[in-house]
Amino acid sequence: MIHPLDNLRADHALVARACTALQAIAESVQAGCRFPAADTAVLLRFLRDFLAAVHLHKESSWLWPAIVMRGDDDAAASAGEVARLHEEVTELIHSLVLFWEPGDLSAPERAGFAAAVQALRDRIERMARIEEEVLFPACVRDVPPDDLLDWIEQFHRVEQERGGAKTWLPILDGVLARWVA
Ligand SMILES: [Fe+2]
Repeated sequence: MIHPLDNLRADHALVARACTALQAIAESVQAGCRFPAADTAVLLRFLRDFLAAVHLHKESSWLWPAIVMRGDDDAAASAGEVARLHEEVTELIHSLVLFWEPGDLSAPERAGFAAAVQALRDRIERMARIEEEVLFPACVRDVPPDDLLDWIEQFHRVEQERGGAKTWLPILDGVLARWVA
């Protein structure tokens, strides 16, 4: 059976590819190309409906509380930092949704879009780094294996209800092919 942390690592890899695509779109928009509204909408829907509603939901419901309860002070502080970044990521996704409207953007709107994408990507990368370098090792070290027994089942339930990586892969396929080398 797949380890729950491997499930979360696989999510990180997919989210990182989506962020790379969004960054490429932001660079193209800033260079003056037409705003690719449809591709942007797919990526933002993925960040809202998968990153926030599935991946971060799994981590905030099971991983972070387990670290706060079982981990040492450093790990608990890192879980707090990730929870703070979670709020910022949610707000940035919400602000980027404002750019969904079809049609072209003014120069200040292009710059605003690129800045919001950069800020979002920075925070998503920082969260994943803290998790993979601090929280995942703390989970392996400090959380008793019995506590993890039902995580995968719970993760799959969330993925079935809301749409997991398997649901999103075919939806993202064309967008990633266009924007990720
Ligand atoms: Fe994560």
